[in-house]
Amino acid sequence: MNSFDARNCPTDQASREALASRGLEYRVMVGDERADFRKAVMRGFLDGEPTAAALAEADGQPDSRSIGVFDGSAVQPLPVATVKSWVTPLTVPGGELPMWAISAVTVAATHRRRGIARAMLEGELRAAKAEGLAMAGLTVTEATIYGRYGFASAAPVSTVKISAKLAGWRAPEPAARILFVDREQLASDLGELHERTRADRIGDIAGWNRRWQQHAGLDAGAENPEKIRGVRAVDAAGETVGSMAYRLVEGADYRRHTLSVRHLVAATPDARAALWKFAIEHDLVETIEAYNQPIDDPLPWQVSDANMVEQRVSEHGWLRILDVPAALEARRFEGGFGVRIAVTDPLGIADGSWTVAQLGADGVRVEPLADGAEADVTLDVGALSAAYLGAVRLETLQAAGRVTGSADKIRALSDALRARAFPHLSIVY
Ligand SMILES: CC(C)(COP(=O)(O)OP(=O)(O)OC[C@H]1O[C@@H](n2cnc3c(N)ncnc32)[C@H](O)[C@@H]1OP(=O)(O)O)[C@@H](O)C(=O)NCCC(=O)NCCS
Repeated sequence: MNSFDARNCPTDQASREALASRGLEYRVMVGDERADFRKAVMRGFLDGEPTAAALAEADGQPDSRSIGVFDGSAVQPLPVATVKSWVTPLTVPGGELPMWAISAVTVAATHRRRGIARAMLEGELRAAKAEGLAMAGLTVTEATIYGRYGFASAAPVSTVKISAKLAGWRAPEPAARILFVDREQLASDLGELHERTRADRIGDIAGWNRRWQQHAGLDAGAENPEKIRGVRAVDAAGETVGSMAYRLVEGADYRRHTLSVRHLVAATPDARAALWKFAIEHDLVETIEAYNQPIDDPLPWQVSDANMVEQRVSEHGWLRILDVPAALEARRFEGGFGVRIAVTDPLGIADGSWTVAQLGADGVRVEPLADGAEADVTLDVGALSAAYLGAVRLETLQAAGRVTGSADKIRALSDALRARAFPHLSIVY
């Protein structure tokens, strides 16, 4: 579905000029500069110097655009700021939408708080909009950074901590069998299953090989890769229907290991149950921990004591609508409705007023509001982005002061936005 290629997208002129006025060069990095880009990103994320082996590894997303900001007065040749973007399918209710994914946002500690990140972020959003993209997305290191650019948490996740012995498996015996696989097979299973099931997870995006190799401990920077184990779930027909990468960490004594799930993906509820049961009943394991899990996981309903499955909800997938009509028309809506909305946008990218009306079974038609017509519902672009996948009701955002207008119309639009499944972005990017 990717008819857009971020590599062909020129840098944003306004950001180029803003940074040039401060003596900084803002440009795409290509070819041999890949190593310098990686070094700057690792420094920005507080990692160590990459080894030669790490630098020799293939890029994460092969079709990404890497931008560096250069300070001619810097002693080192590395960029003082970085950002990377690519176009990926985003699963939305009833379909998918090409999304401008943003990653590797770093500003060197020597150049912080001079507006470099702002220039880069605004540049990404304007460039994506100019390319015709309706949505941008990212995952964050800190939840405080991106709201100012119109992003909002739209696909939260839960961090799960299970007291394995006390929780106890109670649900029926899953039919899928669990088999060990080596780490190469593990990476391959994770990638294949992710793609096979991605359309079922609202809010998820396409994966890439390096992500699966990292989960399987096959990347050059992996810590204690020999401790990483992999299993697959196999159904009665012999098909691989689930995969889990995990690590066992010894606790206070040998009988109290923690089974730390690095990634778990399943094509069927039975496969998911089989993988969790395997973890919960693992000998010598006291605790299981897992990150980026779906909030509506059936797991608490499958154990004897649901209180032994702690779920801590946090933000994870952030979205930023760039084009309101295109974004809304790309997803399914529930029920019949008609609402006039006004969207505000501090960056002037997606603001405007429209009539949003049901079209046929589950689509909508979005048309500009006639001059002088009053909107029923007014909300900022972040609020609409937060509600876009159905993770939060507009009434909640109204109570938070992010949405105003007619209570009936807010409820009607909120009902229409709800999705048949809770969003789940299963990876970090
Ligand atoms: C986060 C980071 C990119 C910010 O870069 P920067 O160039 O210092 O940011 P800017 O000077 O452009 O600041 C832009 C705005 O964000 C705010 N801001 C910047 N970093 C912030 C932070 N960590 N928390 C909250 N606000 C932050 C600034 O106050 C400023 O606000 P304003 O424009 O509304 O006045 C930089 O500190 C960094 O590289 N951190 C380590 C890596 C990282 O966390 N990257 C983010 C990956 S998701």
